[in-house]
Amino acid sequence: MTIKKISKHQPETFEFNEENLILFQKEIKKYPETKKASAVISLLYLVQKQNNNWIPLIAIKYVAKLLSMSYMQVYEVVTFYSMFNLTPVGKYFIQVCTTTPCMIRDSKKIVDVCKKYISEKPDQISENKICSWTEVECLGSCVSAPMMQINSDYYEDLDEEKAEEIIKNILDDKLPPPGSARNRKNTSPENARTTLLEVKNA
Ligand code: FES
Repeated sequence: MTIKKISKHQPETFEFNEENLILFQKEIKKYPETKKASAVISLLYLVQKQNNNWIPLIAIKYVAKLLSMSYMQVYEVVTFYSMFNLTPVGKYFIQVCTTTPCMIRDSKKIVDVCKKYISEKPDQISENKICSWTEVECLGSCVSAPMMQINSDYYEDLDEEKAEEIIKNILDDKLPPPGSARNRKNTSPENARTTLLEVKNA
């Protein structure tokens, strides 16, 4: 499990913009007054979206105040879920899964590609300031291991060459289409096989 890096450069203030204030009001109405804390993940998601995909510490205090929670309670949520970032990330943010199914399918080679082309250490932004990467636990796509997530999309059935091709493209500010590198449709079998009978005759 990777420990989250916290940015040394923290803004002094954070407030929701007008659009997110409206969304906050809508969200909070879904819960009884005494259960406002249930909205914590939704509010943190709004913070991250507003703040270039990372959450400053001052925003944790802001959310805690809005929901009448303690700073530590909100901090615990932020640090528990890998989808929340506590340090700035690149325009293209790569999360490489290195949990067992991906690991036994060589996810280490994908990590090595990230180290070679993006930055030696995780959570550092590439020299051209466009991309960063990190290691994460299972992203729920073990059936297409090894895989990585770039922003909101999954890139699956990878190997070293394919990962290299994708990363070189995003460093050129071009995002390749997501999905299986072996052209599988979702997680269906290869060669368009759909029934056991077809497997038998294949
Ligand atoms: S182990 Fe990598 S997606 Fe599940």
